Amino acid sequence: MSVAMTASRFSLCRLLLTVIKFAAVATAQDSTNGMTLDYSRYINNFLGTTNGGNMFPGVVPAPFSMVKLGPDVVNKTTDAYSGYLPEGQIFGFSMMHESGTGGAPKYGVVSQMPAVGGVPNPLLDLGRNRTTPDVATVGYYRSELDSNVTVELAGTERAGFYQYTFPAAGEKSIVVDVSHVLNSFRGFGWGQGYAGGSFARTADGYTGHGIYNNGWNLAPNWTIYFCGHFDQPFVAKTFTGNDTGNATNLFSYGAANATAGIYRQGGVFTFDSSTVTSRVGISFISTTQACSNVAFQIPANTTLSSLVTQAQSRWTDDVFSKVTVSETNTTVLTQLYSYLYGMHLLPSNRTGENPLWNSTEPSYDDIFTFWDLFRCSTALVQVLQPQSYEEQLRSIIDIWRHEGWLPDGRSSNFNGRTQGGSNADNVLADAWVKGVRGSVKWTDAYAAMKTDAEVVPINNFDKIANDSSTKEGRGALPDWKEYGYITPRFSRAVSRAVEYSANDFGLHQVATGLDLTDDAEKYLNRSRNWRNHWNPQQAALNFTGFLVPRYANGSFEYPYDPLSCGGCYWPDPYYQDLAYTYTLNAHHDIYHLIALSGGTLSFTSRLETFFKPGVYTAGNAAYGNTIFNPGNEPAFTTPYLFNFVGRQDLSVKYSRHAAKSFYNAGPAGIPGNSDAGAMQTWILWNMIGLYPMTGQSWFFVGSPWFERMSVDLGGDKTLVITSCGGNQEDAIYVQSLKVNGCEWAKAWVEWEDVFANGGTLEFVLGAEQTRWATGELPPSPAS
Ligand SMILES: *[C@@H]1O[C@H](CO)[C@@H](O)[C@H](O)[C@H]1NC(C)=O
Ligand SMILES: *[C@@H]1O[C@H](CO)[C@@H](O)[C@H](O)[C@H]1NC(C)=O
Ligand SMILES: *[C@@H]1O[C@H](CO)[C@@H](O)[C@H](O)[C@H]1NC(C)=O
Ligand SMILES: *[C@@H]1O[C@H](CO)[C@@H](O)[C@H](O)[C@H]1NC(C)=O
Ligand SMILES: *[C@@H]1O[C@H](CO)[C@@H](O)[C@H](O)[C@H]1NC(C)=O
Ligand SMILES: *[C@@H]1O[C@H](CO)[C@@H](O)[C@H](O)[C@H]1NC(C)=O
Ligand SMILES: *[C@@H]1O[C@H](CO)[C@@H](O)[C@H](O)[C@H]1NC(C)=O
Ligand SMILES: *[C@@H]1O[C@H](CO)[C@@H](O)[C@H](O)[C@H]1NC(C)=O
Ligand SMILES: *[C@@H]1O[C@H](CO)[C@@H](O)[C@H](O)[C@H]1NC(C)=O
Ligand SMILES: *[C@@H]1O[C@H](CO)[C@@H](O)[C@H](O)[C@H]1NC(C)=O
Ligand SMILES: *[C@@H]1O[C@H](CO)[C@@H](O)[C@H](O)[C@H]1NC(C)=O
Ligand SMILES: *[C@@H]1O[C@H](CO)[C@@H](O)[C@H](O)[C@H]1NC(C)=O
Repeated sequence: MSVAMTASRFSLCRLLLTVIKFAAVATAQDSTNGMTLDYSRYINNFLGTTNGGNMFPGVVPAPFSMVKLGPDVVNKTTDAYSGYLPEGQIFGFSMMHESGTGGAPKYGVVSQMPAVGGVPNPLLDLGRNRTTPDVATVGYYRSELDSNVTVELAGTERAGFYQYTFPAAGEKSIVVDVSHVLNSFRGFGWGQGYAGGSFARTADGYTGHGIYNNGWNLAPNWTIYFCGHFDQPFVAKTFTGNDTGNATNLFSYGAANATAGIYRQGGVFTFDSSTVTSRVGISFISTTQACSNVAFQIPANTTLSSLVTQAQSRWTDDVFSKVTVSETNTTVLTQLYSYLYGMHLLPSNRTGENPLWNSTEPSYDDIFTFWDLFRCSTALVQVLQPQSYEEQLRSIIDIWRHEGWLPDGRSSNFNGRTQGGSNADNVLADAWVKGVRGSVKWTDAYAAMKTDAEVVPINNFDKIANDSSTKEGRGALPDWKEYGYITPRFSRAVSRAVEYSANDFGLHQVATGLDLTDDAEKYLNRSRNWRNHWNPQQAALNFTGFLVPRYANGSFEYPYDPLSCGGCYWPDPYYQDLAYTYTLNAHHDIYHLIALSGGTLSFTSRLETFFKPGVYTAGNAAYGNTIFNPGNEPAFTTPYLFNFVGRQDLSVKYSRHAAKSFYNAGPAGIPGNSDAGAMQTWILWNMIGLYPMTGQSWFFVGSPWFERMSVDLGGDKTLVITSCGGNQEDAIYVQSLKVNGCEWAKAWVEWEDVFANGGTLEFVLGAEQTRWATGELPPSPAS
C-alpha cells in the first residue's frame, strides 16, 4: 500500500478526530465521576493458576517488579513453576519467582518458613499443609498453615514484608535456609542447584548470599544477596549441614539439589512474641545494596496495610487506569483487569541490579520467552507501557553489546532458551516500524539482528537437542545459508525454518528503514525461504501442499502427515505444534501461501478446517479435537488470517469462539501456560477488537467486546473504541466501521491511523455475518 495515500486521507480526518477525541475523553471521566476506581477488586490473583496456566498469585508490588514474594509449594506429581499450587505443602515463602512459565521451575530463593514447637533439624522437612485456600489481592497474600501460623505478605520492588501470627502455645520459630529453591521433578535435568553461599546473624536479623544454577535455561552459578530484619527480639541459631549425611530426607521436600560437598546453611530464629514481622531486601550486587534496598523501600515500622495500599495505587496508576470500559458485568471486568495485571508480571526491571556489567542502559531480566511473546504481547506492551517498552528494548540490545547475543529467553542474567527462531529480531522490527526511537540505538539494534542472521552460535550441546545452540541465536543457520531450508540434521527443522523466515523479514524491515538497500533486498529474499519446505505433493484432509521436512539432496520426507509433528518437542521436526499449523505461519508472505494453497477459496477452506471440531482425532481433546490449539502460541494469529481473504466475519467467528470458550475469570481462566503473559495479551487484543501483525505496522480488525473502551496511550493520546448493536453472545459481527470518523472498508488499520496520535474506531455490530470489508486487503510485503 501507499504510505503517502494513507497519510493524506488521515489528515483529512484530523479535524473531525479532534472533536471525537474530546468527546470520548469527557465520557470516560463521567463514568468515574473523577474518582479513582478501586480496580483491585477486579483482580483475581488466582486466574490462570490451575489448568497448566502456572500464574504467580503472590505479591508483585509493582508492574515488572524484581521482587515477587509468594509461597513455594512442593507436590511431587506436579512441578510448581510459579511456586504456587493449590494442593501440596508450603515449604517456604520466597522473594523471587517467575509467572506463567513452563520448562522447569526457576527461583524460589531467599525464603523464610515458620515452625511451631521447636526445630530439631532445620534441614528436614518443614512443609505444612494449608487449612484454607490462600487469599490474595494486588500487593497482598495470605496463607493459613496447619501449624496454625498465619503468614501475610506484602512488598516493594526490591524488598519483601512478612507478617506472622503464631498460635499462643508452642515455640515460635522462623527458619531461613539459604539452599531453598523450587525443585523440578520432571527428570529432564532442569532442576535448580544450590552451589553455596553465606549466612551471618546481625543485631536484628541476618545477611548473606546464595549461589544457584541450572533450571530450564541451563544457567551457570548466579548470586543473590539478602538482608533481613525482624521487629521482635529473638534467640538465633545458625546451622550448616550437607546432603550426603542424609540425602533421602534432605532432598525430600524443597531442598536444593546441592553440589556435592556444598554445605547448606541458614538460621533458626525463635521468638516470644506471637506476632512477628520481617523486612527483607534483595540485591544482585551485594549485601550492602540488599540492606539499602530494604532500608529505603521498607523502613522500620512500615505497616503491611500501607505497603498494600502503595502497591495498589502503583498498579492503578501504571496499568489499570489506562484502560476504561463501559462494561458493568463484574465477571467480564475481572477478566479484563486480571489479564492486564497478568501481562505485567514479567519481565523483571532490574535496572541498577545488573551484576555483570556497569551500563547507562536499563537492565531487564526474566524474558520467558520471546518465542511466546513476539506474536502479540510485546506489541501490547508498546501500547500500554511505552516507557518500559523502550527500556526493555535498550536492555536486550545492551545484552548483545556485552555478551554478543540478543536473548530469546533469559533468566538469572543468562540467555536461554531458544526454541525456534531468533525472535528478538521480530520484536525489534515491530518496534522500528511502529516508530519506537527515543534512546534506542538502532544501529546497534540492527547489528544485533545481523549477528542473529549471520553468525552461528556456539553449540552448547544441550542434552535434549544437541545439534546446535539452544542458548541464543539461530543454531540451524548453516543449513539456512547453504540450502535455504533446514535439513533433519537439525532438530525442529521445519518450525525453525518458518521462524527464521519471519526473523529475516524483520531484518528486511529495519534494513529498509536504515537505508541499507542491499541488506534489505537480501533479507527479503531470505524471508521467502519458508517456501522451500513446501511439498506440493503432500496432501491431507482435502488440501495439497504443506511445509514438511526436507533432506540435503532436495527431496522431501514423503509422505509426511501434516497432522503430525513427531513428538512436538526439542528433538522433533516441529516444535509444539503440527505441520498443518506451521504451514500457515509465514505471515509476511501470505498471498504467496494462498497462491500455493490453490487460491482464495481453497485457502479459506483450509483455514476453516483448522477450526473444525473432530478433524484432529489424535489430540486437542480439550478443544473439541480441532487442529487449532488455542492453548499455545504457534496458532495465535491463525484465526485472524481470514482477513486476508475478505472474510473478516470468519476471523471474528473463530477468534471470539476461542476467547469465549477457553478463557474465563477463574483459576482455570487461560487455556494453557500463560507464558509470561502471552495468553493474557491474546485475549486482551480480542477484547480491544484489533490484533497486531508483528514486524509490520498494521493491525487486523476484529470485533470489540465493549460498547466503549478507552485506552490511554500516554502523552495525552487516547484510543477510543466504541460499538453499538453488539452483545456478548451472538451479535459479534462487524456490520460497518468508522476510523477517526471516516467510513472504513478495510479489515486492517495502520499504527499511524489509531495509535501514533490516538484515534477512534466506531463499530456497528450485529448477529449477521456480513462482508463489510470490501476495500484493499491487508499487506503481504514478501509476496
Ligand atoms: C498434588 O496435586 C494434585 C493435583 O492437584 C493433588 O491431587 C495431590 O493431592 C497433590 N499432592 C500432594 C502431595 O499434595
Ligand atoms: C498434608 O496433606 C496430605 C494430604 O493432602 C497428607 O497426606 C499429609 O500427611 C499432610 N501433611 C501434613 C504435614 O500434615
Ligand atoms: C491448630 O489449632 C487447632 C484448633 O485450635 C488444633 O486442634 C490443632 O491441634 C492446632 N495444630 C497445631 C499444629 O498446633
Ligand atoms: C538433582 O541432580 C541430579 C544429578 O544432576 C538429577 O539427576 C536430579 O534429577 C536432580 N534433582 C532435582 C530434584 O532436580
Ligand atoms: C559454582 O559455585 C561453586 C561454589 O562456589 C563452585 O564450587 C563451582 O565451581 C561453581 N561452578 C562453576 C561452573 O563456576
Ligand atoms: C536420616 O533420617 C532418618 C529419618 O529422619 C533418621 O532416622 C536417621 O537417623 C537420619 N540419619 C542421619 C545420618 O542423620
Ligand atoms: C556430610 O556430613 C556427614 C555427617 O553428617 C559427613 O560424614 C560427611 O563427610 C559430610 N560430607 C561432606 C562432603 O562434607
Ligand atoms: C519503631 O516504633 C517503635 C515503637 O513505636 C519505636 O520505639 C522505634 O524507635 C521505631 N523505629 C524506627 C526506626 O523508627
Ligand atoms: C456476566 O458475564 C458472564 C461471562 O460472560 C456471564 O456468564 C454472565 O451471565 C454475565 N452476567 C450478567 C448479569 O449478565
Ligand atoms: C561497577 O562499578 C562499580 C563501582 O565503580 C564497581 O565496584 C563494580 O565492580 C562494577 N561492576 C562491574 C560488573 O564491572
Ligand atoms: C525500572 O527501574 C529503574 C530503577 O529502579 C527505574 O528508574 C525505572 O523507572 C524503572 N522503569 C519503569 C518503566 O518503571
Ligand atoms: C473434504 O471434502 C468432502 C467433500 O467436499 C467433505 O465432505 C469433507 O467434509 C471434507 N473434509 C474436511 C476435513 O473438510
